[in-house]
Amino acid sequence: MSGVGASTATGGTTARQRYGPWAVIAGASEGTGRAFARQVAAAGLDCVLLARRPGPLEALADELRADFGAAAVPLAVDLSEPDALERIREVTDGLEVGLYVANAGADPYATPFLDRDVEDWVGLVNRNVVTTMRCCHHFGGLMRGRGHGGLLLVGSGACYGGGRLLAAYSGSKAFELCFAESLWAELRGTGVDVLFQALVTTDTPALRELLAEGGQRPPSRLVAPADVASTGLAHLDRGPVYNSRQLLGLRAGTRRLRVRLVTRLSRSVFGDR
Ligand SMILES: NC(=O)c1ccc[n+]([C@@H]2O[C@H](COP(=O)([O-])OP(=O)(O)OC[C@H]3O[C@@H](n4cnc5c(N)ncnc54)[C@H](OP(=O)(O)O)[C@@H]3O)[C@@H](O)[C@H]2O)c1
Repeated sequence: MSGVGASTATGGTTARQRYGPWAVIAGASEGTGRAFARQVAAAGLDCVLLARRPGPLEALADELRADFGAAAVPLAVDLSEPDALERIREVTDGLEVGLYVANAGADPYATPFLDRDVEDWVGLVNRNVVTTMRCCHHFGGLMRGRGHGGLLLVGSGACYGGGRLLAAYSGSKAFELCFAESLWAELRGTGVDVLFQALVTTDTPALRELLAEGGQRPPSRLVAPADVASTGLAHLDRGPVYNSRQLLGLRAGTRRLRVRLVTRLSRSVFGDR
């Protein structure tokens, strides 16, 4: 058994020993984030739950305590704000965090780039790029020091290229992809796993809301959030990339090969820094 998919992780250690005792889930209040939180708690980890709205976070924290006996700390925080990590550290500094899930990250606008105030796009990039980078630096550094842990970045097939309505969003997801691949290469052998999980259209409240605003109906085939969470957690130790089945032709194995090649080239230039 591998990843966080069950109470037992690889090598006879428990998921809690390998990726715990605490997990931080960014964007936990609904959809895929909520599914990650429930599955992580079911695997024996305690959870810090992040999102902007306190009500749904508090309800989820109660649920995790009642259903799994997990400790759960809700924190209402806007991940687009420059002080997001400071706010997160106010509750996590006394906790041993072994898993960080960067889940919040959808485009709530689906608008051509020039048709919105640029500050909306800056907020999206701050949340997806800057806060994700800060949190991975902070939690990843502590995990490396302890010799175990996991960083899971929830991405999108949009990471592989741009298109209409995707300017800031696909750019931010491409950053997350390359960032996660590089971290994976740098953290190999340290006990810290890194995975970028590329999703396709998934049945989340955020997607349904966005479609409803435009008067559109959800497509008939949507991936279930619980399937996203179980797949991501099961593949956490098989990074750097997991592509949803529907991303045909984009092979995660090819990405891994490319990362290894780039790493070899970089070593030939910069040596073993
Ligand atoms: N749904 C899809 O079809 C789809 C497809 C491909 C990839 N993905 C990826 O899957 C992940 C989840 O997507 P999603 O559809 O569930 O929508 P989402 O808006 O990324 O996630 C919703 C969660 O994130 C929180 N959140 C959003 N913005 C936040 C902010 N600025 N600060 C703090 N929390 C914030 C929301 O709670 P609050 O509103 O209370 O803050 C909610 O808990 C994203 O990374 C997205 O890129 C989704």
